[in-house]
Amino acid sequence: MCGIIGYIGKRNAPDIVIDALKRAETRGYHGFGVAVSTGNKFEIRKKGGEDCLGDFLELVSKSLLPKSSYAFGHNRWATHGTPEDRNAHPHLSQSGRLAIVHNGIIENYSVLKNTIEKETGVSLKLISDTDTEVLVNWIEYVQKLSKLSLKEAMKSALENVEGTFAFIVASLDEPGVFVGAVRGRTMRIGVGEHEGEKEFFIASEVYPFSHYTQTYVVIPSHKLISVTKDGYIVEDTRTGLVETPELKKLEITLHATEKGEYKYWMDKEIHEQPRMIENVLQGRVDLRDKSVILGGIKEYEKDLANASILHIVAHGTSFNSALLFKYWCEAIAGIPVNVELASEFRYRKTLVSNGSFVIGISQSGETADTIVALEHAQELGATILGICNVEGSHMSEMTDAGIFLRAGRELGVASTKTFTAQMAVGMMLSLHLARIKGVLPEGSYQELFEELQSLPLYIEEVLSLDNPNIKLALELLKNASSAYYIGRGVSYPIALEGALKIKEIAGIHAEGYAASEMKHGPIGLLDKHMPVVAIATSSSQIDKMISNIKEAQARKAPVIALVTRGNPNNVPADIHIELPEVREEFSPFINILPLQILAFRLALMKGKNPDKPEGLAKSITVE
Ligand code: G6P
Repeated sequence: MCGIIGYIGKRNAPDIVIDALKRAETRGYHGFGVAVSTGNKFEIRKKGGEDCLGDFLELVSKSLLPKSSYAFGHNRWATHGTPEDRNAHPHLSQSGRLAIVHNGIIENYSVLKNTIEKETGVSLKLISDTDTEVLVNWIEYVQKLSKLSLKEAMKSALENVEGTFAFIVASLDEPGVFVGAVRGRTMRIGVGEHEGEKEFFIASEVYPFSHYTQTYVVIPSHKLISVTKDGYIVEDTRTGLVETPELKKLEITLHATEKGEYKYWMDKEIHEQPRMIENVLQGRVDLRDKSVILGGIKEYEKDLANASILHIVAHGTSFNSALLFKYWCEAIAGIPVNVELASEFRYRKTLVSNGSFVIGISQSGETADTIVALEHAQELGATILGICNVEGSHMSEMTDAGIFLRAGRELGVASTKTFTAQMAVGMMLSLHLARIKGVLPEGSYQELFEELQSLPLYIEEVLSLDNPNIKLALELLKNASSAYYIGRGVSYPIALEGALKIKEIAGIHAEGYAASEMKHGPIGLLDKHMPVVAIATSSSQIDKMISNIKEAQARKAPVIALVTRGNPNNVPADIHIELPEVREEFSPFINILPLQILAFRLALMKGKNPDKPEGLAKSITVE
């Protein structure tokens, strides 16, 4: 959500910034902008609107920016102000001498605005509706009063700023310097070399600059940075001390994959799941002694296996995968698991203390709700672990230990392959903890371990099936304004995820329910216009599931059922989607696939871009 990028070096900075904005597009596409200083003014090109990258690129191709070794830019996910040109960043101060790009929220922006107006007796003539424009004016106001350098003035200005943020400011009076601040967020500085000279990239994540340099430092919360062509200085805003962050090197290649034969990232990401699972398993399963190796958490694995309870915090798709982990970990390893939305966990009184384990699951590793919940748990004394996909992300930097998903970069806003990767890691972790704990009979362990190896084949088979009934299901769903997804046991989190997918990308209201919960309210809304998608593959609860389907049919709701090939359980439904038989524990890996495909194809049928659902962003960095 909102991406900031700055570049100083020998290359043409506006080109680098524009390229980086394209690469960070999924952080927000309500606005794109770039600023270059010409010495006596900032030249700014920016565009706002829904999904406006194309318009922005057209603008910068028609209205060329001057060449420069120093430029910065932003892509926006709207918080304050609608998606339109005037709300896109960069923003200028009233004098036009300061320019800013910002990710986050300034909670007391109206207090800051009132203070400036009261103290100066002049009303601010704001162009945008953003908190960001107030912030840059606040910095200018403090600088004018104090006559300090930009960096010192910013330090002083920040004392009265409330909120969480990462931003960079440039001043016409101090050419060639970026001053940035981070609170409750992280930022990265990429450190490279071009034609014998140093170059620096300032960015919200490593991906936008990872094809220029693999070396970077992470700037954690409560830091002030200044970056010039010669280097960077990092200062702690609480202690005033200068710090030297450790130089890191990307281990996983983040280079852009190509869409290849696919028109949409989401389609590609759905279809690369078999290879992706191979990658997730590679080096983590020892076929000789049938063991799971999770190097990232080695130091904690015995304590995890002996824990009285594990707490998991997550949101969105990651929350749904966390629920599955609960089902598996409790059933396979016999360890109780508490799964909570991170935002709820953070602001209630949780019984977490020294010795507790709190695990965050997040594809991006940037979700603010999850990050603050983990910080809170750490303050309470818990050991915090992370399961995430993005190396160098906030979560991967802040946690005591963790497991990378290794799913490769996911560009579709709605998660698909990373959900499957989260499930695979959840299953591996459950098996691993079960073996350490010694709670599972060896025969059962081996059967599950072997089925884990077969996952890529099963997934490949399902993706290659051209099931004609999918078309029928699409016809049924495309005119519905609402749908229910139902499942029991491990199919319940899949019902939640299936419903989330069509809500996210096809714009159809859908709710996922534990099938039995239907009769406690939702069933009252069923009629012939409300389709029910039932996950009814073979399971220990199939008879009860069939009863729930019959209840829906009795109210004339059309039913689409995912069933085991040949429909051995005689599941009643209007449309059957047959899937290969796998052990019940592994059925989520198979059952999610047609639901991802349904959502993707429905989005296309409804004229939507499945990669960029309206109003959503890939990582949500505000609470
Ligand atoms: C946003 C995305 C969802 C995602 C959720 C959690 O809402 O649109 O697709 O599931 O964030 O993201 P995370 O990166 O923490 O998994």
